[in-house]
Amino acid sequence: MTTGPVLVVDGLTTELRRTTATILEGVTFSIAEGETVAVVGESGSGKSMLALAVMGLLPRAIRRTAGSIVLGGTDLAALSAGEVRARRGRDLAMIFQEPLSALNPVMRVGTQIVEVLTRRRGLPSHAARAEAIRLLGRVGIARPAERFRAFPHELSGGMRQRVMIAAALAAQPRLLIADEPTTALDVTVQAQILDLLRDLKRDIGLALMLITHDLGVVAELADRVVVLYAGRVAEIAPATTLFDSARHPYSRALLASRPRAHGPRSALVPIEGAVPTAGTMPAGCRFRPRCSLATVSCASPPPLHAAGPDHLVACWAVQ
Ligand SMILES: Nc1ncnc2c1ncn2[C@@H]1O[C@H](COP(=O)(O)OP(=O)(O)OP(=O)(O)O)[C@@H](O)[C@H]1O
Ligand SMILES: [Mg+2]
Repeated sequence: MTTGPVLVVDGLTTELRRTTATILEGVTFSIAEGETVAVVGESGSGKSMLALAVMGLLPRAIRRTAGSIVLGGTDLAALSAGEVRARRGRDLAMIFQEPLSALNPVMRVGTQIVEVLTRRRGLPSHAARAEAIRLLGRVGIARPAERFRAFPHELSGGMRQRVMIAAALAAQPRLLIADEPTTALDVTVQAQILDLLRDLKRDIGLALMLITHDLGVVAELADRVVVLYAGRVAEIAPATTLFDSARHPYSRALLASRPRAHGPRSALVPIEGAVPTAGTMPAGCRFRPRCSLATVSCASPPPLHAAGPDHLVACWAVQ
């Protein structure tokens, strides 16, 4: 039995093979058992890259150059490629924004879940079928025995996302990584999927790495938040701390640009400029060109340092 963190990412750095331009740089964070950690940041900040690096699914054009990924106490770097695959298959599962692209279009959804159950858990086919139907019911699919036989295109987007979640749970992972799991869905269905994730977290103590650019989703689900900017961690804090007293100028700008669901409607404050891409990263603090607080100190990269209990921030202007 391990009681330590489920995932510890330390100093993770990736680069484009062709140009050696860095994308993720020194990314460090952890996820405890049963904890939901949200990873937020504008488009292009490296959220998906981080998820893919943890899953061991980086695109061919990109490689990890430094840092460790420790899953359930085992450093994946110390294992052979085959062992890493087996380990990830057992301990990690991922759901994506568009479930249609992750499901096999010519295979019945139930069969896809049965495959996971036989491959990952070694269940005999009869038991696997019963378990797949149970899982479809668990994720809120009505008449699961009937839906077992459906093909992905016969289901709605929300239902397909439920199937993806059922297939992810089938492997009984220690950590579920969800990359924008509700972005492609309409608002009502979004809320239903969020409710489902919340129930799963409560009922089976699932650890969740939740990637989103929707701060409303963060407020509803996250225990802790990692704010990523241009491939670096800007700030890490408990969700309540971040919403009450974010310290990094980027986190503050993100929060200020958030549309409010309650209270008087205030105008969106867009953040001036755009996230730099690989090869065009400014030296020093990567947020510097867009930051109103930038000083000469920001020409060197700010280290992550404590700004309070369980609160880390990478900004020279924050002591
Ligand atoms: N296959 C690839 N080859 C080269 N660069 C890539 C590749 N995939 C992503 N990138 C670059 O890596 C950076 C981070 O991209 P990533 O997709 O991780 O961002 P993201 O935070 O997930 O954005 P979004 O919110 O739009 O999903 C971007 O600058 C992107 O252009
Ligand atoms: Mg992404």
